Amino acid sequence: MAKKVSLINMKGGVGKSTLVVNLAWHFAYMNKWRKRVLLVDLDPQFNASQYLVGVEKYEKIISNGEPTIWNVFEQHTYTPTKVQPTSLTPKDVIHEVASFQGRGRIDLVPSQLELAYSLRNPAQKETLLAKFISAIESAYDIILFDCAPTESVLTTAAYLASDYVLVPVKPEYLSTIGLPLLGRSMDEFNKGPYSGHSIEIAGIVFNHATDYAPEERKSKRDVRSIAAANHWYVFESEVSYSRSYPKGAREGRPIFWTSYARYAQAAKFQAFADELATRIHL
Ligand SMILES: Nc1ncnc2c1ncn2[C@@H]1O[C@H](COP(=O)(O)OP(=O)(O)OP(=O)(O)O)[C@@H](O)[C@H]1O
Ligand SMILES: [Mg+2]
Repeated sequence: MAKKVSLINMKGGVGKSTLVVNLAWHFAYMNKWRKRVLLVDLDPQFNASQYLVGVEKYEKIISNGEPTIWNVFEQHTYTPTKVQPTSLTPKDVIHEVASFQGRGRIDLVPSQLELAYSLRNPAQKETLLAKFISAIESAYDIILFDCAPTESVLTTAAYLASDYVLVPVKPEYLSTIGLPLLGRSMDEFNKGPYSGHSIEIAGIVFNHATDYAPEERKSKRDVRSIAAANHWYVFESEVSYSRSYPKGAREGRPIFWTSYARYAQAAKFQAFADELATRIHL
């Protein structure tokens, strides 16, 4: 069974998409892992899809009308042009991104803007993702879900499809005060009608971290005390602020292949990724 991890934070711009793509490369490529990785993009803004395959290839997927995660959520929906609901083969939605010697590989289930339409009519769609994942998970060691920063049926779908939640946090005041929202969202899920399924917080990871700013130190202290009160783990490794992350996104590369990225930055990311692997028993 694959380990299934959702990157969630109701606060936007904390690095969910950046970390998810870097984690995919790390576990697929690094010699000590060479895992079979599936990245599922659950954000109608499709940042992770574009970062992972590049803008050009992404545009091709969309203009060719190839299935995306949207089709998973709409597979039973009738429309005036669709007389029959689509019979969707899970494989149709999976796009090969890279494969490496050994078993290491990355596949992607891309997202598209139309996924936002699914939010307008969310009835009974939250279980479709978990069903789709259970049909294909034996082909993977780890499945990563990149979530949008808003609470919706897609968040519930992500909870239902995953075992773990990874929470990137930018150490700044507004992130700190947003964190209880996540606690509430998970509580509501756990109290909801899905009692057969439990999710665990793999941990909170500080992203965009710099060592010296006093304001940042205060925010980290606040996050740690919220985490302690909720029994949430906080990762020992932090992901530092580095211009190489946005540059890597432009180049379509992970931090360890980004041009002129400092080795120390890549090493810090690796330490975090390996700590995550321990947390989820990969
Ligand atoms: N460690 C970092 N150092 C420097 N820049 C970073 C770092 N992590 C992320 N960024 C940059 O911060 C911005 C936001 O990151 P990203 O898009 O990954 O966040 P997100 O949580 O996925 O956002 P959203 O909530 O909108 O989906 C991007 O420009 C990204 O390149
Ligand atoms: Mg994102």
